[in-house]
Amino acid sequence: MGNYTFCGVDAVELAEKYGTPLYVMSEDEITRRLREIKSCFEGGRADRATFFAAKSFLTKDMLRILTREGAGLDVVSEGELYLAREMAFPPERIAFHGNSKTELEITRGIEYGVGKFVSDSVEEIELIDARARLAGVKAHVLIRVAPGVEGHTHRHISTGGADSKFGLSLSSVTEAISLCGVFKNVSLDGFHFHVGSQCMDNSAHVEALRVILTMMLKLRDTNGFEARTLDMGGGFGVRYTDNDSPQPIAEFICGMTECVGKFCKESGMTMPALIVEPGRWVTAEAGITLYTVGSVKRIPGGRTYIGVDGGFPDNPRPALYDAKYEAVLANKFGVPPEETVTIAGKCCESGDVLIHDIALPRAARGDIIAVLGTGAYNHTMANNYNKNTIPAIVMIKDGKPRLSVRRQSFAAMFAGDI
Ligand code: LLP
Repeated sequence: MGNYTFCGVDAVELAEKYGTPLYVMSEDEITRRLREIKSCFEGGRADRATFFAAKSFLTKDMLRILTREGAGLDVVSEGELYLAREMAFPPERIAFHGNSKTELEITRGIEYGVGKFVSDSVEEIELIDARARLAGVKAHVLIRVAPGVEGHTHRHISTGGADSKFGLSLSSVTEAISLCGVFKNVSLDGFHFHVGSQCMDNSAHVEALRVILTMMLKLRDTNGFEARTLDMGGGFGVRYTDNDSPQPIAEFICGMTECVGKFCKESGMTMPALIVEPGRWVTAEAGITLYTVGSVKRIPGGRTYIGVDGGFPDNPRPALYDAKYEAVLANKFGVPPEETVTIAGKCCESGDVLIHDIALPRAARGDIIAVLGTGAYNHTMANNYNKNTIPAIVMIKDGKPRLSVRRQSFAAMFAGDI
């Protein structure tokens, strides 16, 4: 019995020093995961690249880690691109995504010289061509295709189906390729797909690959268009609770690369350069969030609610996706569970519940709760509902914590008010 430690650091001491709610991230774990993907996917090959999905976690420190590790970056807005620019992230290693980019975003992407635009429409490619012409450059573009395959995941994070706002439908690709033929300042390098997020195995990815590769072969034979690059998206699942048993990453990714290799060998198609775009897999399990218990409400004959000092503003995922998490009582770690409780957030919103029905030791006001696996899509999706400020991030490296992002101040929260 004692205090819960995360990456060798006492979580209760972190809460005392930096205050709660607090995001705690492990630089070591992020680095280890980036390297694991690199070794099982890239294996030193120049025609493979890992582009981290910024939407899952993006801070200056994260960009420093990615730069150091030689990873690429998938951005989806001017804001994400802005931070990458601020940190002088290598532009050639940036892929600019988005189903509805603004003209300004396209201009900024061209100005900074992003390595690739991933585009969902001919109209957008036309605009990219016009901006590239003005700048006197050639922009590289991948067409995002909706393979008509659903990721086997929550419907809000499944993106590859035919009825999706993302990607060009398969039946429009041939026409799009010929329309793009007139654009002089665009080089059409190939295709992109992303079936969905938090996929427990690669079955949907492999199914989508078969569809896209067949499409690529047909385009080669009928249009003479040979795709040089294939971006297979992200979506590799992680373990949030015991109910999640994701396929090991090496197996997940090797199954995909083998599928491409086999198809190309059998069909005589040239092997394209390959890209993956993991977000969650790199950061989710590298992070926890610490909270202080503010209230304990025991309903006679009913539930026990443990109220904490955060919730929906720092982690809207349970409310949005019915996401599940595990938690520990950090200052009573190792004490056998005594009761089943519901961990409730502090917002004026009954849906603001972080965890339903979790067995914990008996909690009291002032205890520290650590919610585990919060490193992806928590800080990036944080909001100011009820005018709560966005928590600080502490980064741990080699067992040493450091402040990585300051807690948002009230002044910063209201800075735009006139
Ligand atoms: N590439 C593209 C084009 C994507 O749309 C996404 C995620 C990724 C890569 C990275 O997916 P990951 O490897 O992280 O699963 N807010 C939701 C997740 C939305 C994901 C959207 N796209 C959540 O909190 O679960």
